[in-house]
Amino acid sequence: MSNIREVAKVAGVSIATVSRALSHPDKVSKNSLKKVNDAIALVGYKPNMLARNFRFHKSYAILVLVPELANPFFSTVVKGIEDVARQKGFNVLLGDSRDSIDREKEYLKLIETRQADGVIQLRPHRPADGQIFSHADFPVVSACGCVGTPYPSVRIDNAAAQQQVVEHLISLGHTRIGVITGLADNPHSIVRLKGYKQALENAGIPFDDTLVTEGDFSLWSGLNSATQFIHMDQKPTAIVAFNDEMAIGAIKGFKSVGLDVPNDISVTGFDDIEFSKYNEPTLTTISQPATELGKTAMNLLHRLLEGKTLAQQEYILPFEFIVRGSTANKA
Ligand code: RIB
Repeated sequence: MSNIREVAKVAGVSIATVSRALSHPDKVSKNSLKKVNDAIALVGYKPNMLARNFRFHKSYAILVLVPELANPFFSTVVKGIEDVARQKGFNVLLGDSRDSIDREKEYLKLIETRQADGVIQLRPHRPADGQIFSHADFPVVSACGCVGTPYPSVRIDNAAAQQQVVEHLISLGHTRIGVITGLADNPHSIVRLKGYKQALENAGIPFDDTLVTEGDFSLWSGLNSATQFIHMDQKPTAIVAFNDEMAIGAIKGFKSVGLDVPNDISVTGFDDIEFSKYNEPTLTTISQPATELGKTAMNLLHRLLEGKTLAQQEYILPFEFIVRGSTANKA
């Protein structure tokens, strides 16, 4: 197998010159660079990846900031990112930020130290975050975000999706519809709540804030909200959870006190994670195109890494409303 020594010998230059030609081609004379490149071609030398990365000042890695890796929705998005990244010759570094901006800032050191070339942020941008990414320095793409993201982004229309879910429940005769949001300041909570309110308003049903409980997108918080609904004097007849995990947690809570889902109470989710098809009952939910969101985000980031511009700042992908076994007519 050829090596750098052989290249130097054939090119008639020192090993140091070959090395410099690989790492800093701009610091080598045109004549020497040509000799080195010709020798590389002649002996069939393949510079290793490290040398390639040094030469182009690139790591060929991207950083994906995930708010909650344990959430199957996000791991599916990451799968889509990874599929495209591999095709493009990039490795994926994962940072599980647990929805914390401070953790994200820590992970950005990977960019500062050139261990990653660009970022895909899956945590929805909050106005209070400011612009932690100065995208003049490195490219950033937001996936699964919300309206008002300052970076190029790909997402679904969360408000329209949630509105469609509530309209379905209203069409089944439900008017007391409880809500399980994520954390109150999470943009998905805010935007999905807008969709919920819009559906009520269109149907002439007054909004009642006592029917809104705050979760945190976890199974446990869904179960906790179910307990709150069970103890209400005027119980809701249907519940919209702002993701599938909370819906599954809530169903467990209702079943534990002998309530039948959907005959006593309907429950809906959001995301269409794999478990939603296996839950008992199966979950009526919004299917987000998780893999496609990831693939699109990586394709956009790759364009930016190549110094190209994007046709749009915001890419909205279609969602699908799936009716399964967890919703029924009001008893
Ligand atoms: O951040 C949590 C939720 O927001 C996920 O479950 C998914 O719905 C995402 O959009």
